[in-house]
Amino acid sequence: MRLRTLRSDAALRGKRVLVRIDANVPVKKGRAEDGPHGRIARAAVGLEWLRQRGARVVVCTHLGRPAGKHVAAYSVRPVAKRLSELLGVKVQMARGVVGPEVERAARRLDDGDVLLLENVRFDPREEQDSPSLARELARLADLYVDDAFAVAHRAHASVDAIASELPSYAGPLLSHEVEVLSKAAAHPRRPFVLAMGGLKMDDKLPVMERLLPEADAVLVGGALATAFLKAQGHAVGRSVYDEAGVDDARRLLQEGKGKLVVPVDVVVAKTFRAGARTRVVAAADVGPSDRIVDVGPASVDACLQRVRPARTVVWNGPFGYAEVPAFRAASRALAQAIAARTGAALTVVGGGDTVPLMEELHLADAFTLLSTGGGAMLALLAGKKLPGVEALRA
Ligand code: 3PG
Repeated sequence: MRLRTLRSDAALRGKRVLVRIDANVPVKKGRAEDGPHGRIARAAVGLEWLRQRGARVVVCTHLGRPAGKHVAAYSVRPVAKRLSELLGVKVQMARGVVGPEVERAARRLDDGDVLLLENVRFDPREEQDSPSLARELARLADLYVDDAFAVAHRAHASVDAIASELPSYAGPLLSHEVEVLSKAAAHPRRPFVLAMGGLKMDDKLPVMERLLPEADAVLVGGALATAFLKAQGHAVGRSVYDEAGVDDARRLLQEGKGKLVVPVDVVVAKTFRAGARTRVVAAADVGPSDRIVDVGPASVDACLQRVRPARTVVWNGPFGYAEVPAFRAASRALAQAIAARTGAALTVVGGGDTVPLMEELHLADAFTLLSTGGGAMLALLAGKKLPGVEALRA
């Protein structure tokens, strides 16, 4: 898929460029939690590219789901602070999303300056894909660059409608993510291994259904695997799982015979707390007061055997309750095995809290692509058309 991108010799000096980024990261005590491979850090690369060429940069993002209202806790001020650190210049904070005062601030920008708009989801028109909001945003700039892959599956005004109002281009992060993910899903070199963890069957089912015919193996882990164990008739004690997904799991077990790799052993504990005592048991032997916290070692081995010869690996969602370091053994082993294939294989890792997890495991640079997308990655893999990508096709 070819997208419109800015050429490196584009005449940008003095031009105002509206850049949509996805800076939707957790905020704790006024700080944006964003490591060196985080969404804001990755978007900063494209912003710096524009600054170096003398562009006047107007940045737009959402943060959380404030439902069209101004909610102080969702202000993007912490994003301005993080961007200032990354770019080494003071990023100015606009007093709103659009409107006369914001337009004046955008007009006052000098070459290389950066202005961050307030959370675009404070405006109820954002999630309505409103042309009127898109027109007001367009008054702030001469060009539009979309570098927000993680929100490309949303038909929102700053992602979709805006592209009809200004000359629009894909930014470097979005282009790279779309290129690698499309290649993995549309033309996987074989053996092709798909690994799915996390919780919700709804989110993962369309990907598994679409890629099952192409894949040589589909590895299932995390709470998602618990729905499969239930479908196999096993007791799962007090484990967290997606009850509504059990029927789908049963069907996939039929359709994917010989390809689906479901845990044969699991790590159980009585609580999800760090320091909880753990035991490895056969998948058939989970007790009534047990909680499954990780995939067991024999099952991890079975997964690694599939990954070792793979030429394409796509992994979305942790394999255990990875928030607790003690329950990360399966995710760590899988991450290391996939990382070891990078180069010989195209490797894509993403979803939910994957980026911070890979940073903690020192593997954030070890894949062809560490995707910033959660829902967007799954939507693209499931073959859906993403509004934020369609709008930028060459
Ligand atoms: C994400 O975190 O996946 C994106 O920022 C999209 O957020 P949303 O699910 O609130 O639209």
